[in-house]
Amino acid sequence: MSYQKPKGTQDILPQEVEKWQYFEQTAREWCRRFNYKEIRVPIFENTDLFIRGVGETTDVVSKEMYTFEDKGKRSMTLRPEGTAGVVRSFVENKLYAEPDVTKLYYTGPMFRYEQPQAGRYRQFHQFGIEAFGSVDPTIDAEAIALGYYIITDLGIRDVTIELNSVGNAESRAAYKEKLKTYLQPMKEGLCKDCQSRFEKNPMRILDCKIDGDKFHDAPSILDSLDEACLSHFTAVQDALMAMDIPFKVNPNMVRGLDYYTLTAFEYTCEGIGAIHTIGGGGRYNGLVGDIGGPDKPGIGFGLGMERIMLMMDIQEVALPNKNPLDIYFIGLGEQADKEVTRLLYKARNAGLRVDKDYMQRKMKAQMKAADRNQARYAAILGEDELLQGNIMLKNLSTGEQEIVPIASLIEHVKRT
Ligand code: HAM
Repeated sequence: MSYQKPKGTQDILPQEVEKWQYFEQTAREWCRRFNYKEIRVPIFENTDLFIRGVGETTDVVSKEMYTFEDKGKRSMTLRPEGTAGVVRSFVENKLYAEPDVTKLYYTGPMFRYEQPQAGRYRQFHQFGIEAFGSVDPTIDAEAIALGYYIITDLGIRDVTIELNSVGNAESRAAYKEKLKTYLQPMKEGLCKDCQSRFEKNPMRILDCKIDGDKFHDAPSILDSLDEACLSHFTAVQDALMAMDIPFKVNPNMVRGLDYYTLTAFEYTCEGIGAIHTIGGGGRYNGLVGDIGGPDKPGIGFGLGMERIMLMMDIQEVALPNKNPLDIYFIGLGEQADKEVTRLLYKARNAGLRVDKDYMQRKMKAQMKAADRNQARYAAILGEDELLQGNIMLKNLSTGEQEIVPIASLIEHVKRT
């Protein structure tokens, strides 16, 4: 019997992992510069948290959750997104008692039962941030900038930031009425889901995966914003302009989760078929209170790691520091092989990345292995050299060979 990975999941093989590590390093470095600190929360939570947090009528909650009953008969769900768990932790651990804005980042797998295709998986990974405790529009702009820096520093070109404001509860209520009036004549032709969203959550219709691009002339939510929402939105744009971050206002962009208030944004890029969104986020001023915490505002984003790495492949972004092997050791004969074992140990402790053949292959096969490993040097030790206390060092990119005293080999390679 042979097993296959579950539908919509992926094995990340060693040759791909380098890209993942590069992504994580780049994102962590930008978080460090913006003073965000890492938080690690569970991969599953009580189902209720997502129902309350993300919203019962969203696709994510109503159709896509991996929910199961544990042996204690509790309903648990594999997290479909990162924000709800981080907010739960912020509340449970009373991080809100800190005097400053709490700036957090996280990375890890998320789970949604979706129809798999390129860029859409059932287990996927996000790199996300959340900042709690400030209503200042400059923190919205900072969050937007942070995601943009990560994506562009990874080498992705032609990224667009789509920006909108989904207002507060009052402006949304006014907007929903206008939207229903606009949608009423088309209602019969909409998909079944949209028909049921019409009463429960009409804004979700704008985000529908089937009908979403039919509504270009829908009323703009920006016309329903009150003065405070509008001035917040203007201030976010001013701060983005001050930081030279390009953006495009898209009043039809509503995001797929229910917790957003005021600022909503997405990072988009062409190339992965019909999928354009590589990351998204926004402000959620009511969420902390909704799940039982104090009245603290928040803002954040989640970047789709697979989508961004797919874009890196599509745009043929070259990874820096391929991190090749420093030395591939070739020992010829029993004594030489023993000496190689000692040298491997010394080189590794000196910080070099080194390896050798473990299959007693002939010299030619070992040289091929050195090439396959993209080693900088092959260090070849025969019995004769060993007797003289020397080793032959071959630079595999230039082909140059030199005899080096064994005692100074490591220093020599480290110097070059
Ligand atoms: P989201 O828009 O649902 O937001 O997801 C963020 C990103 O995750 C998407 O833009 C996409 O790149 C990626 N993504 C979502 N679903 C899949 C999938 N099935 N396969 C591959 N990639 C996917 C959130 O999750 C919010 N928690 C973001 C946020 C943080 N808002 C405020 N703070």
